[in-house]
Amino acid sequence: VIDDHVTHLRLCVDRALAEWMPSEDVAPERLHAAMRYSIFGGGKRLRPVCCLLAAEAVGGAAEAALPAAAALELIHTYSLVHDDLPCMDDDDYRRGRLTVHKVYGDAMGVLAGDALLTLAFEIVAEQLPPAVATRVAVALARGAGSSGMVGGQVGDLDAEGRVLEVDEILAIDRRKTAALFAASFEAGALCANAAPEHVAALTRLGDHLGVAFQIVDDLLDVSASPATMGKATGKDVARGKATLPSRLGIESARAVAREHSAAATAIAVTLPQGRLIEALIGTMLERSS
Ligand code: IPE
Ligand code: IPE
Ligand code: MG
Ligand code: MG
Ligand code: MG
Repeated sequence: VIDDHVTHLRLCVDRALAEWMPSEDVAPERLHAAMRYSIFGGGKRLRPVCCLLAAEAVGGAAEAALPAAAALELIHTYSLVHDDLPCMDDDDYRRGRLTVHKVYGDAMGVLAGDALLTLAFEIVAEQLPPAVATRVAVALARGAGSSGMVGGQVGDLDAEGRVLEVDEILAIDRRKTAALFAASFEAGALCANAAPEHVAALTRLGDHLGVAFQIVDDLLDVSASPATMGKATGKDVARGKATLPSRLGIESARAVAREHSAAATAIAVTLPQGRLIEALIGTMLERSS
């Protein structure tokens, strides 16, 4: 049931993105082509799915949250395009194909990322009812900005080659990854006009799920193949990244991921219709790609 529904939601997100993104026939063609290349090169669409499920979990329609969901995927994809640049993680493959800067050049990687981020807020402002748009814009900006994802990316780069305490590593994970997951659930709840306590609960759920998600990403970087991941693996050790698996070992890191996943589940069961979120949390911990 969860798989079928998630497949359906992904389709809705992809359709919305295809409609709202500029055509590559429109100038500047190369920029628009690079943006579409980055978005339509695979991708699990997890943040938009979390956003849409959050809306449904409080009795709203996924449809009403579609602009926020599309915006989240644009922001997330921009973060990946920049994360892969030579001045950051320096990766050649993403989502099963060459990274944007490998195909279009470094400058276009920077600029396509800039344009994806900007487009996200254009869609929010244009497609959502004004009162909701304002609140969603704040949630997304906080999740993505200097106290959220970007701040976490700074922490991630600063930590390269250093041995950090467990709490310091978790603080980086919370900002670089969990903040955008928290914003995803929060935005979905806001689009559904959820009660304040449900908005807060879903935001906390996203925070826990996001931490678990990053730990699993770090575990898969150790154990999975580039073919299944669609990106290089073994890179965190090579670059001296301060990850939980490198600090605690595989088993203990997995245990921490399980704790955060359980904390997310404990919140999901308090929601009016949280069953699909509960199911999604299960699949995210067990994922193999
Ligand atoms: C990768 O995110 C970056 C992390 C925060 C670990 P995803 O694993 O969700 O990447 P896509 O969107 O499916 O490519
Ligand atoms: C990415 O973390 C976090 C972002 C905010 C993009 P990683 O650097 O581990 O993500 P991957 O492994 O390159 O997808
Ligand atoms: Mg990185
Ligand atoms: Mg990376
Ligand atoms: Mg990684």
